Amino acid sequence: MTTKKVTIVGAGNTGATMAQILGATGLADVVLLDIVEGLPQGKALDIAEAQPWIGSSSKILGTNNWTDSADSDVIVVTSGVARKPGMTREDLLGTNAGIVRSVVSEATSQSPNAILVIFANPMDAMCHVALDTCNWDPTRVVGQGGMLDTARYRTFISMETGASVQDVSAWVLGGHTEATMVPLVSNATVGGVPLTSLLPQKKIQALVERTKGGGAEIVGLLKTGSAFVAPAVATIEMVKSILLNENRLLPACALLDGQFGGIKDAYVGVPLLLGSDGIASIYDMPVSNEELDAIQAAGEAVKELVSVTP
Ligand code: LAC
Repeated sequence: MTTKKVTIVGAGNTGATMAQILGATGLADVVLLDIVEGLPQGKALDIAEAQPWIGSSSKILGTNNWTDSADSDVIVVTSGVARKPGMTREDLLGTNAGIVRSVVSEATSQSPNAILVIFANPMDAMCHVALDTCNWDPTRVVGQGGMLDTARYRTFISMETGASVQDVSAWVLGGHTEATMVPLVSNATVGGVPLTSLLPQKKIQALVERTKGGGAEIVGLLKTGSAFVAPAVATIEMVKSILLNENRLLPACALLDGQFGGIKDAYVGVPLLLGSDGIASIYDMPVSNEELDAIQAAGEAVKELVSVTP
């Protein structure tokens, strides 16, 4: 039994994979919550039964009851529907806004001191929906998008250069939609060597485009559902930084207050320090003028999406 508790809302592929990955770390007890009867219980039991050989003491509980989530340190909201082939993340707006509102209101009343990590799509807009619902300090409501997109970008750079993904340093900022994602070229490096000196411009542009379509690429291949392993790992990396108060500098979605050339009141993917109180600070890192324009456009786009959210 650990002293920390994390509730993962939504026992679909992503939520269950998050429970598995976090459970294996032994850092927290995990509550997997869903409205579908039997689903979270079955998945949690399966994960719990792996713990003896994994060698972790974390308890994994599957439930349909919000009271089981009480006093969580972190709540991860994965609930909502996933994309089908041909759909954009924005197409999920109406359906998922209603779900996120009800989930956040239940979750935050049970765990008034938690940090909320929003995963449901369209994620940037869902962060606004979550914040409006709970009215918490925005430092306690953070979105996952850039972690996954950055992992995809680093993977594609590694595939193209042949260098280990561990030596690829790159960031994806902006929004978590194809239209608003900003894979940074200006500070992407492999072992400290600028990407621009390793690959021709055309190749780099192809990597940027593949990154923007990285989610759709997997939706297209799977035919039903979307990616869940890399999304789960990306999210749990954020959860770990919160649980351990690591203050990792991570690409994630925060409510801006004048950063990146004056973006205000918009949730945008930026480099941020994530610790036990949530977003400890936002790094206003230098980017090219073109990249800055694209990040600002992401801020405008999320505001537009929020204004048409039912
Ligand atoms: C993706 C979804 C999870 O990018 O947003 O795969």
